[in-house]
Amino acid sequence: MTDTTIARASPNVRYGSNAGQPLTRRDGLLKVTGAARYAADNHPDGMLHAVYAASTVARGRVVHLDVEAAKAHPGVVEVITPANRPALMKHPDEKSEPFGFRIEVLQDDRVRYANQPVALVIADTLEAATEGARLLAPRYEAEPPRIGLDAERYTPDAVGIGTPAAIRHGDIDAGLASAARRIEASYETPPQYHNAMEPHAIVAHWDGDRLTLDTPNQAPVMMRAGFAEFFGIPAENVLIRTPFLGGGFGSKAILAGPQILCCLAARMLDRPVKLVLTRAQMYGPVGHRGQTRQHLDLGVDADGRLTALAHHTIAATSSFEEFIEPASSASRTLYASPAIAATHEAARNDIGTPGPMRAPGEATGSAALEVALDEAAEACGMDPLDFRLRNYAEVEPITGRPYSSKALRDCYARGAERFGWADRPLAPRQMRDEAGLLVGWGMGTASFPAIMFQAEAHAVLRGDGTGAMRTSAADMGQGAWTSLAQIAADSLGLDIDRVDFHAGSSDLPDAGVAGGSGHTATAGAAIDAAGGDAIARLADLATSDPSSPLFGAGNAGVVARGGRLHRRDDDSRSESYADILARAGLAEVEGRGRASRDPAAAEQYAMQAHGAVFAEVKVDPDLGQMRVTRLVGAFAAGRIVNPRLVLSQLYGGMIWGVSFALHEAAIVDRRSGRVMNADLGEYHVPVNADVPSLDALLVHEDDPHVNALGIKGVGEIGITGTAGAVANALWHATGTRVRRFPARLEDLVAG
Ligand code: MOS
Repeated sequence: MTDTTIARASPNVRYGSNAGQPLTRRDGLLKVTGAARYAADNHPDGMLHAVYAASTVARGRVVHLDVEAAKAHPGVVEVITPANRPALMKHPDEKSEPFGFRIEVLQDDRVRYANQPVALVIADTLEAATEGARLLAPRYEAEPPRIGLDAERYTPDAVGIGTPAAIRHGDIDAGLASAARRIEASYETPPQYHNAMEPHAIVAHWDGDRLTLDTPNQAPVMMRAGFAEFFGIPAENVLIRTPFLGGGFGSKAILAGPQILCCLAARMLDRPVKLVLTRAQMYGPVGHRGQTRQHLDLGVDADGRLTALAHHTIAATSSFEEFIEPASSASRTLYASPAIAATHEAARNDIGTPGPMRAPGEATGSAALEVALDEAAEACGMDPLDFRLRNYAEVEPITGRPYSSKALRDCYARGAERFGWADRPLAPRQMRDEAGLLVGWGMGTASFPAIMFQAEAHAVLRGDGTGAMRTSAADMGQGAWTSLAQIAADSLGLDIDRVDFHAGSSDLPDAGVAGGSGHTATAGAAIDAAGGDAIARLADLATSDPSSPLFGAGNAGVVARGGRLHRRDDDSRSESYADILARAGLAEVEGRGRASRDPAAAEQYAMQAHGAVFAEVKVDPDLGQMRVTRLVGAFAAGRIVNPRLVLSQLYGGMIWGVSFALHEAAIVDRRSGRVMNADLGEYHVPVNADVPSLDALLVHEDDPHVNALGIKGVGEIGITGTAGAVANALWHATGTRVRRFPARLEDLVAG
């Protein structure tokens, strides 16, 4: 049974028996039985395999490719190099906003980073293509690569995707001058790679000037335009099918060179072509979280109140494109201070272009900010939680706007209580376990913007009492197939099993991007509006028909529930959707919905999700070995559509935070510019043994302003705060400050 309240002019927010329920993943069975078809599982008739040779130098020119040897290998059909590459309608060095990065598609012999594609081999089998690519044996004229944050620097205008690079509020110098204490330190975060379980993959198939693509993609409709531009065809001619993604984390929201190369090969040979990146090849052309060095300069008065908060980030970007990790942005909205400066610089490196990676900006920025706050609390002799409460931002610090909702105090209180924070000794190195390991407790604040993109949805109610909802939403593992279908069912007043939910394809209404933690809010609001529109049409039919028991329901309105409309003021008067449609002689009614952020609300309110993360670590005092032994996070993110899936997102985020603090780093050889650990054996991520006890609490939060459904999103917030909490716990255990991520054993024993 569902309960849907209808008022045509402004569909009310309503929650029935679908949304709010901890349903298991509706696609779960398909996934565990192997029936879910991922991009690389497609084998259209006549398909060829493409493999590219990836550069082993980071800067220079390709001076020789043994094309003859590759072509002579049995099964090799074609070799594409800059010499014979067919023309594209758009130059790959031309940028298109906002996600159209400059890319490498064999436009010339330049090498701009290690692992850049330098030639493509197409063959009957994967083995032949792989061997052909090896036989190319590229030779290079290499130049010394520019690697690291001391390379040529410049000041960008924007960071991330369109965020101002410098935000200054108040008088930092005056704030620092008047401070009783000043805390100044630099923090480092390494390059990190998305490492989704499913590698980037594409199967491209041309039919005349129509292009069909099976490829994992976080924004199927938006991404069509990128492909269309390169091949000079209308966006509608590109069909992107992306029913399942094995993780995206931002890297599958950006069009990359290998995908275009595969389409190019398919067109050149007039056959379907498949290209799947190897794990190692994913360390280059498909984005990563850029390296940063962050300088924090805090002033604090005698009472422990911030007088100034300056956060300056130097972030690495590529030599030919600009994506600058917006780390300082984390300091814009979190703590009250009369003076705040969030500024950035970029360093030009011979690396693949960084890109958005789960909680871009906030993950890296909060790691530094939360440690700096801990250092400030220490300097003041204050408990770290008390220090954060002392500097609690009642309104958004820079703009003075109220928050649309902010249950952060509840998060602090509930998280601290669950963790047992009150028993924490103030000084470090005070606790040991029975085995003699040092025990430390640390905390951090989590925060991520409640973003909305734009989305559309199309609903149908049918005469047989079923419904359908169509929108191009992408499920990258976060559970869109389930949570959005729950919203769809409620919006249509139907049980979820009676709604056909269509998503994951670009021939559906544009659901925007599954990213920025905004997908449930955005696509969900469009779905809700579409369902409401269909129900309103049905209600019009019934209430204007004298033979309906709902005739004249008028302003009282009707309630949609279990496939029937009921008079709101008299529940006993009702009629089934089927009867209403039959009497009107209609097979179905349709509804359309759109959603985007209400500009008036966006002007008036700051919109952020919040949380508090508490960590316990144990450190071997002699060897420096460290483990997170307990993690408690309490999060307030507006309405929770599916608590089971939300917890799963929060756990995933928190585990990523542990990874950030203790495990993850791409190690770049400064001489060659190559990532030395480009595989899951050497690029460390946490396993179960690294995360023994994990607890996430959902703190209630009603938000009437953020969107019609009151949803803020949870995909990214779990990382923010967690890395800092773990680092702070390491200090509390050992007395040594962690200012370099991931924390290294040698840093702890050296202290
Ligand atoms: Mo995310 S980095 O917005 O996919």
